[in-house]
Amino acid sequence: MPDQPKWNSQLYDDKHSFVWKLAAGVLELLEPKPGEHILDLGCGTGHLTSKIAEAGAHVFGVDRSPEMIAQAREQYPTLRFEVMDALDLTLEETFDAVFSNATLHWIHEPERVITAIAKLLKPGGRFVAEFGGKGNTNELLKAIHRAWRNLALPGAPPRPWYYPTIPEYSGLLEKHGIEVTYAILFDRPTPLDDGERGLRNWLDMFGAAFSGSLPDPVREQFKEVIERELRPALYNNGHWTMDYRRLRISGKRV
Ligand code: BEZ
Repeated sequence: MPDQPKWNSQLYDDKHSFVWKLAAGVLELLEPKPGEHILDLGCGTGHLTSKIAEAGAHVFGVDRSPEMIAQAREQYPTLRFEVMDALDLTLEETFDAVFSNATLHWIHEPERVITAIAKLLKPGGRFVAEFGGKGNTNELLKAIHRAWRNLALPGAPPRPWYYPTIPEYSGLLEKHGIEVTYAILFDRPTPLDDGERGLRNWLDMFGAAFSGSLPDPVREQFKEVIERELRPALYNNGHWTMDYRRLRISGKRV
């Protein structure tokens, strides 16, 4: 995973609530049951963790961001949360299910996290996840390249996200003893909050992964160029819509 800046958990909750509000489908696929032990990997500010708990499961939320975990603990003081990197899942316990929403596209070493998940699952345990799949934020990635060239920045822009195909990710899961039972790759154009400011909020929240290394004035310019480049494709009637494409996948530990 590339170096991550501090997460702005307030901006995340205020302007990017779609991250958990649009997760009903993957939660349904999880089907949490009373008494089950479930790990929520990349739990952010804990909203989905709390939904899983509402179903009667014992849920444990982990996230690599201390800011996110602090906010999760504040909002859901009765639930269990811990700061933990998905690449360093050092837990003794095992789970009936490992759940993950909007996290795995940040992880460029998928086999490392899949190996860890497989170890954490009881035999028959479920892995249920949704994240950016092949083609996710394609317009944005093209705009990043154009902006990089336009500003004559050195080298190539960073590639902050891992967006696999179904066969690619299924193959890795199967290789590590997780039998794939369901997989779908689907377009989910996502309206951003806050009208004209929507894309800027998104870039402030998530864009440090590709612009964080630029000096301040260049970074601002970079965001302006991206905004200009993306406007024809993603701005309509006063609203920005991000071209998300989700990979939703589930499997069973054999
Ligand atoms: C996503 O949810 O697809 C996503 C979020 C932040 C950066 C890139 C992708």
